[in-house]
Amino acid sequence: MSEAILQDTARALVAEGKGILAADESTGTIQKRLDSIQVECTEANRRDYRELLFTTPGLGEHISGVILFDETLRQNAADGTPLVKVLQDASIIPGIKVDQGAKPLAGHPDETVTEGLDGLRERLEEYAALGARFAKWRAVYRIGEVTPSPAGITANAHALARYAALSQEAGLVPIVEPEVLMDGDHDIEDCELVTEEALRTVFGELAVQDVLLEGMLLKPNMVISGADCAEQADVEEVAERTLRCLLRCVPAAMPGIVFLSGGQRDEVATRHLDAMNRHPAVKPWRLSFSYGRALQAAPLKAWGGKAANAAAAQAALMERASANGAATRGQYA
Ligand code: 13P
Repeated sequence: MSEAILQDTARALVAEGKGILAADESTGTIQKRLDSIQVECTEANRRDYRELLFTTPGLGEHISGVILFDETLRQNAADGTPLVKVLQDASIIPGIKVDQGAKPLAGHPDETVTEGLDGLRERLEEYAALGARFAKWRAVYRIGEVTPSPAGITANAHALARYAALSQEAGLVPIVEPEVLMDGDHDIEDCELVTEEALRTVFGELAVQDVLLEGMLLKPNMVISGADCAEQADVEEVAERTLRCLLRCVPAAMPGIVFLSGGQRDEVATRHLDAMNRHPAVKPWRLSFSYGRALQAAPLKAWGGKAANAAAAQAALMERASANGAATRGQYA
């Protein structure tokens, strides 16, 4: 497989001023999002919502790629155009979520391991034929009294590395997503320690599986205070600690880091990214975004399931996309 293709795609996904829109909610998750605006979770409504996002005029100015769910990769817009083509025509690279969810880890209460390796080679081949050029797999780590355990850390890292190797074999750029959840009352120090441990293990496994660093992207959490922690670290501390953690763990050969938003308020997620890009530290990789909720919360609310609100919803998406685009340059006002 041509390493050059993987490298070109990876670099294009973190092109100057651009980031990724995560729209790969599984059926259960998109149901929650649509419930929040009292819209029934039918296939047609899921399609209408995603079509609305993808047809936002000018979206490709700030969005390099969109992560899709299996259903969406196969869906057509209302006029019959495949949604993949809608994206391609907007100069946006289609990607696909390929994991099959976080399942309970045997013998380890409160921990999960992400599944989906069985049959993955064949699924990747099909996804590539349908137009996907990158793939995503999310591992989840919950900070608790005794979690994440070495078992949870190693099992998830191993699966991420196996998935990444298979993706590259199929010509798809893997986006490796180890997410330390912000749920809980832990402080930012705990988040930094756990994130560091998770990342070190992931990059160790990626090396064992011979994953090409130049042809992949990392999608990590930021180092932040637990959502229920009494003391919330400010933007500068988040930027400082996140950069320190990444500089210690992430090889310079990798072209980019695209953060998840993880439940941060949209504006806060933008300010954190901006602060990291403003920071004087020398960064060997592009620092960008692959936000789901932090890009979609505003348009989802503005839409409310009503066709008459489509333009307002697209304007809301464009506002967040453009703000985050500015943040990748450290130029968010
Ligand atoms: P959030 O930005 O909402 O965390 O979603 C990103 C994502 O793709 C999670 O897997």
